[in-house]
Amino acid sequence: SKKAVLGPLVGAVDQGTSSTRFLVFNSKTAELLSHHQVEIKQEFPREGWVEQDPKEILHSVYECIEKTCEKLGQLNIDISNIKAIGVSNQRETTVVWDKLTGEPLYNAVVWLDLRTQSTVESLSKRIPGNNNFVKSKTGLPLSTYFSAVKLRWLLDNVKKVQKAVEEKRALFGTIDSWLIWSLTGGVNGGVHCTDVTNASRTMLFNIHSLEWDKQLCEFFGIPMEILPNVRSSSEIYGLMKAGALEGVPISGCLGDQSAALVGQMCFQNGQAKNTYGTGCFLLCNTGHKCVFSDHGLLTTVAYKLGRDKPVYYALEGSVAIAGAVIRWLRDNLGIIKTSEEIEKLAKEVGTSYGCYFVPAFSGLYAPYWEPSARGIICGLTQFTNKCHIAFAALEAVCFQTREILDAMNRDCGIPLSHLQVDGGMTIFIPLNSQMKPSMPETTALGAAMAAGAAEGVGVWSLEPEDLSAVTMERFEPQINAEESEIRYSTWKKAVMKSMGWVT
Ligand code: G3P
Repeated sequence: SKKAVLGPLVGAVDQGTSSTRFLVFNSKTAELLSHHQVEIKQEFPREGWVEQDPKEILHSVYECIEKTCEKLGQLNIDISNIKAIGVSNQRETTVVWDKLTGEPLYNAVVWLDLRTQSTVESLSKRIPGNNNFVKSKTGLPLSTYFSAVKLRWLLDNVKKVQKAVEEKRALFGTIDSWLIWSLTGGVNGGVHCTDVTNASRTMLFNIHSLEWDKQLCEFFGIPMEILPNVRSSSEIYGLMKAGALEGVPISGCLGDQSAALVGQMCFQNGQAKNTYGTGCFLLCNTGHKCVFSDHGLLTTVAYKLGRDKPVYYALEGSVAIAGAVIRWLRDNLGIIKTSEEIEKLAKEVGTSYGCYFVPAFSGLYAPYWEPSARGIICGLTQFTNKCHIAFAALEAVCFQTREILDAMNRDCGIPLSHLQVDGGMTIFIPLNSQMKPSMPETTALGAAMAAGAAEGVGVWSLEPEDLSAVTMERFEPQINAEESEIRYSTWKKAVMKSMGWVT
């Protein structure tokens, strides 16, 4: 059959904590043409540990690419129209692999993992000079969340990693680096690189000079030769070496939260988005200025869309557990069979009554940065049933967002007029006053835009007049302001009770 003729297309890998997707967009209209999604396993070998198999992640990417291409074929769309591929990924998750065999030397240590709590404690006693040493260079607090301490743990505890480093065979990377190296050929000339946004989540990267920081590497004891080359978020890194899209350039790379900021077109100072995925991450574009928070927010690289283009920064409020609480209710408690069922349960009661759920499974991130916190469900009576718990779980995501918004407003001085949201959980309940784009795959869209706009590809224009306006739907909160304030202050009490469980 005759294949339909289309403008240039751009593909995007969206490798998240819970699943991998590959999506293909029309570069002229930003229309999503086809996609495929695969859920990713998480392993919890010990209390507080979270690991994933880097090979499973890589295979899921290939599988999603192949399946999406098949679907495009069924739509009569010629895959030779795909001119570039962008990569967006879960950030911080740490992989070390052998460059001679292509084999990972340990599982990926996932961003949520807490095994480095004692490493963090002992390092924090040795911070040179003032306490600001790490934060002033990286924009980040010293925390289990970021890659440097995960890498330190691997160097201290995994013989294979130690040996490979000694023998100069080891490469370190976050998921973007692992994927790009593998997809561009692996042992046969794979490109070992990362972009500025992913680098800014390692705690080894100086966000002012945009280079790996020698002093930080010394402090964490990281050999600099295993680090990837840092590139901009939009340039050709290499070509796909195998599969249906062999030969197509990979030319966009952004941490998933940065990608969503780009996909939501938050290019102006003060524009913000919130993505509800496994965790929940609110980023506010602060332009070319690094704004440092006094209220527990991170300063991070938002994007740099081209080698010669300026860098943009963001203030970020990070919440570790959002969608993950639904997966926990499904996999650990078994009170729902599919994630979608939670909405039905919550709607049956429409309230949690006095039940509050603080899902501090990985300690508390912003604005508290409290590793000693653990999850609690409180306010239970004989009246409480699974519907109330389901409601409380969803409401926890609203409360956590509210805490971040409060911190953001205090740091920025100007209250955010509205919040642009995206991600899987926005389908469940309207949270605060929010604007949701009609095309929810903004993370992938951002990566596709970066890839399509790269020098040497040039199929996606990022000029404001060429960007198709995002159509938004508005959601209003369901309870009145007074009730919301009362519930929010009780939530705060529950948060206080979740702290100090682990000493
Ligand atoms: O920092 C972690 C973040 O990038 C994970 O994103 O989409 O898997 O919740 P997500």
